[in-house]
Amino acid sequence: MIAPEFVLGLVLPLIPWAGSSAGVGFRFASYIDNYMVLQKEPAGAVIWGYGIPGATVTVILCQEEETIMKKSTSVKADSDIWMVVLDPMKPGGPFEVVAEQTIGRIKHTLSVQNVLFGDVWLCSGQSNMQMTVSQIFNATSEMSKTAAYQSVRILSVSLVQAQQELEDLPGVDLPWSKPTAQNLGHGNFTYMSAVCWLFGRNLYDTLHYPIGLISSSWGGTPIEAWSSGRSLKACGVPKQRFIPLRPVSGPSNNSVLWNAMIHPLRNMTLKGVIWYQGENNVNYNTDLYNCTFPALIEDWRQVFHYSSQGQTERLFPFGFVQLSSDLPMASSQDGFPQIRWHQTADFGYVPNQRMPNTFMAVAMDLGDKNSPFKSIHPRDKQTVAYRLHLGARAVAYGEKNLIFQGPLPEKIELMVGKGLLNLTYSQKIQVQRLDNKIFEISCCSGRQCKWLPAPMDAFSIHTLALDVNPCHGTVVALRYAWTTWPCGYKQCPLYHPSSTLPAPPFIAFNTNQVPGRHVRLPMS
Ligand SMILES: *[C@@H]1O[C@H](CO)[C@@H](O)[C@H](O)[C@H]1NC(C)=O
Ligand SMILES: *[C@@H]1O[C@H](CO)[C@@H](O)[C@H](O)[C@H]1NC(C)=O
Ligand SMILES: *[C@@H]1O[C@H](CO)[C@@H](O)[C@H](O)[C@H]1NC(C)=O
Ligand SMILES: *[C@@H]1O[C@H](CO)[C@@H](O)[C@H](O)[C@H]1NC(C)=O
Ligand SMILES: *[C@@H]1O[C@H](CO)[C@@H](O)[C@H](O)[C@H]1NC(C)=O
Ligand SMILES: *[C@@H]1O[C@H](CO)[C@@H](O)[C@H](O)[C@H]1NC(C)=O
Repeated sequence: MIAPEFVLGLVLPLIPWAGSSAGVGFRFASYIDNYMVLQKEPAGAVIWGYGIPGATVTVILCQEEETIMKKSTSVKADSDIWMVVLDPMKPGGPFEVVAEQTIGRIKHTLSVQNVLFGDVWLCSGQSNMQMTVSQIFNATSEMSKTAAYQSVRILSVSLVQAQQELEDLPGVDLPWSKPTAQNLGHGNFTYMSAVCWLFGRNLYDTLHYPIGLISSSWGGTPIEAWSSGRSLKACGVPKQRFIPLRPVSGPSNNSVLWNAMIHPLRNMTLKGVIWYQGENNVNYNTDLYNCTFPALIEDWRQVFHYSSQGQTERLFPFGFVQLSSDLPMASSQDGFPQIRWHQTADFGYVPNQRMPNTFMAVAMDLGDKNSPFKSIHPRDKQTVAYRLHLGARAVAYGEKNLIFQGPLPEKIELMVGKGLLNLTYSQKIQVQRLDNKIFEISCCSGRQCKWLPAPMDAFSIHTLALDVNPCHGTVVALRYAWTTWPCGYKQCPLYHPSSTLPAPPFIAFNTNQVPGRHVRLPMS
């Protein structure tokens, strides 16, 4: 016979059989809380928590005292976890979510209030994702724009690392909240993520239903920290990272942030993920990023789908920001353009075969020399989020005929006798200015190859001719915007005319290396 008081959370730790150190007592998971947003239809939202093994748990969804839905389960015998999947719900609210644990005749009740159904997006990455609304341009006015967005709810995960995969979050810095100036601009690099917030705000303006935003980001961290052991192994990443012969501990170590800041969220039903990371890999495992990034996406998708009982889509939409610009420190720095290219799995555009259902915001033209947070932290996050939300509308929400990506050439031809390389773009192009250096050709004579500038020459709505006369040998490759800082603020030479989307950087190889024949890009 169990005395009633033993069921109260405070007393439970004394009961030896009551569970592992992962959690004792009857409670919701750390991120099931007042003001939360649960994923709407067609998926069912997952609700889970801890209880006494063998107890029955009933989750009741109520609206204005009326029961809308009831779901019962039992706390697993071998752990202290319970979990239910709600029936799909239309967007809206507010609701109350009640959980009742029954063991014998003893009942204990928990509830969370003011819960909405909508789309839940997880935002992750390093410092450019962490940067708060107080750090961006027009901060004061952006922080004050909250009244219209009370149905956009925000949560910010605490910065914690772990050697093992954790079941629940060790902490949240900002529990589920309505947006306020204070919550959006709590301090530098704390909460709330500006890119995440502005992305959600843009989505709300389009969708007009609740949006839940979870920020789980940590500045200065490499992709390896956010990757499971499985994906690192698949890409041949060494098990232990060393910096001058010393094993790395701390948040840069392999898998430690996956373990503590992502894995605990895996049972939640999500709409999708946005990601802003890569600066830290400009000097670390750079060549592997074309494997580690697609592998992270695939691994997160598998785990979230499986752990949410199939509620989170198997190929859920995954958006990301292509690296912006940084003032180059060394004379020749290849890391930025390499990572930008590898972020697309070396295609130059997304989605593609290796990265299905993804979308990208090009940001190389948003450099900010005078940023008080150093040029690696540009303050225009509004444009980043705007471009990202265009991708989400097209890829995640299936909006047809929406242009969400700048122009890329679909054909590159050498015009023999004219000394011109003729680029044909699939989209219309807007040439803002003629640049003499931003296009470069690899010019080979014998075995010697050299990158030479190919000045922009003539252009029309779909074509652009480059002057390749400086090359007296064979043109074997062409690249665009292949530097750390390719152009000034919104001053790249090529955009899409109506959408202000910059042409993405690319590199193309002449596969047959015979002048006069077509040079085809590795594009589908
Ligand atoms: C954030 O950084 C800015 C620029 O360096 C500084 O002026 C401001 O005081 C910082 N704010 C906080 C809360 O630390
Ligand atoms: C780094 O992480 C690896 C893998 O999780 C672990 O085996 C190793 O002990 C960690 N190293 C340090 C110094 O914390
Ligand atoms: C990734 O890029 C490197 C060069 O940086 C290249 O050698 C390698 O073949 C690429 N791997 C994949 C999987 O595309
Ligand atoms: C999450 O889902 C996995 C796979 O279904 C399951 O093994 C695990 O117990 C669940 N964890 C929680 C905390 O519900
Ligand atoms: C800041 O506000 C000004 C005035 O409204 C506007 O012109 C500018 O585009 C805003 N900047 C950003 C980055 O949104
Ligand atoms: C480039 O190619 C297009 C299509 O083949 C053609 O219409 C255009 O005249 C060419 N431009 C130049 C400068 O040769």
